Amino acid sequence: MAESRGQFSTRTGFILAAAGSAVGLGNIWKFPYLVGENGGAVFLIIYLGFIFTIGLSVMLAEFAIGRIGERNPVGAFAHLKGGPWTAVGYMGVFTGFVILSFYSVVGGWTIAYAFKMASGLLSLGDPKALGDAFGAFIGDPVEPIFYHALFMILTGAVVARGIGTGIERACNILMPVLFVLLVVLCVRSITLPGAAAGIAFFLQPDFSKINPAMVIAALGHAFFSLSLGMGAMITYGSYISRQTNLPRAALWVTSLDTLIAVLAGFLILPAVFAFGFDPGAGPGLTFITLPAVFSKMPLGAFFGTLFFVLLGVAALTSAMSLLEVVVSFLVDEKGLQRRKAVLAAGTAIFLLGVPSSLSLGVWSGFTIAGKGFFDVADYLASNILLPTGGIFISIFVGWVVFPKIMDGDNGGIGDEFRWAGVWRIICRYVAPAAIAWVLVSGL
Ligand code: PHE
Repeated sequence: MAESRGQFSTRTGFILAAAGSAVGLGNIWKFPYLVGENGGAVFLIIYLGFIFTIGLSVMLAEFAIGRIGERNPVGAFAHLKGGPWTAVGYMGVFTGFVILSFYSVVGGWTIAYAFKMASGLLSLGDPKALGDAFGAFIGDPVEPIFYHALFMILTGAVVARGIGTGIERACNILMPVLFVLLVVLCVRSITLPGAAAGIAFFLQPDFSKINPAMVIAALGHAFFSLSLGMGAMITYGSYISRQTNLPRAALWVTSLDTLIAVLAGFLILPAVFAFGFDPGAGPGLTFITLPAVFSKMPLGAFFGTLFFVLLGVAALTSAMSLLEVVVSFLVDEKGLQRRKAVLAAGTAIFLLGVPSSLSLGVWSGFTIAGKGFFDVADYLASNILLPTGGIFISIFVGWVVFPKIMDGDNGGIGDEFRWAGVWRIICRYVAPAAIAWVLVSGL
């Protein structure tokens, strides 16, 4: 089985590809505005707490399920245990569907902004005008949907070719470039006059601001940012070679993802304060702040274009992993041809994304529980479905298949793993209880 599905050719190739799934819009678009909306440093601390306990454990669980299951999430659960556990896989496919629908809308924004940067958006001059331009763009009924379509087509084109070659090679080159550019931009942002208030906001916690809604947001985002809870890492795990040390790979991917998010925080938040924007401005925050930063540096249009191209690529590598979950399910379980599966899933996901995009403009009056369609899709997927998936994945590993998961001879983790005892306790008790508690207290 392993041969016919293709594999990542090197260990670092796999780590970079999994990091490619994890690092995306979640880090650079979503994380800074969540920190802004949820009171700054306290959110960061709670987020980091979730990442390095529950997040790391669930990531390892997904890698291991994938490598011994050697299949898409539905097939992996069916193969390892079957029965009702298969439903966890189905839930993952559904979640991937929902996330990609709005993710692709934002992915489209990055493509549009790459073009806008190149064609003189910065000549608008002052930060307020840049903010208005963004609002007008996402509220337009046609333009963002065109770019949403373009983003889905690009994602589909890569996934149709299958995993391994193109994906791996692209990640190996582009991820490091994005990283270097982020560091350069951080330096520009931190040295803007008035940036200190933003740094303080990001790093000095005010514990009186803790509330259940922000704890849910932090947990949901830990899952979202690490691509956990819906089987993306199970799918990628099914392509890992037996030689790869899974705990080490999980630690790498988690650390890289966190590093990029923290860098994005140091990029966006100081600039938000320096330009007098509102840190609680929501999903537009990064797209409004970044052009303002570029307008304050030499060759801003050039760096701005480059940045949005790279952000688009980072978004694409995440989107691929979302679409791959749906497609590998249709291919492995339903016997569809890969190309047909991509076409069917891609079209349906595109259509579901249209109301998300419209809800930021002409359909903004149409709300469910006070939220527009975009926010509902995001909230449902990130804050409810992903953590719920995380509960079941933890229980599955901790209680149902632990011996199999540890069996190195069968593709499991192997006995070199010194933290197996702690990990089992987290999977059995800590993660399910903590996630359930957060979910319940938030409702
Ligand atoms: N982790 C990706 C990001 O941060 C989004 C994603 C979520 C990808 C869930 C796959 C699965 O942008």
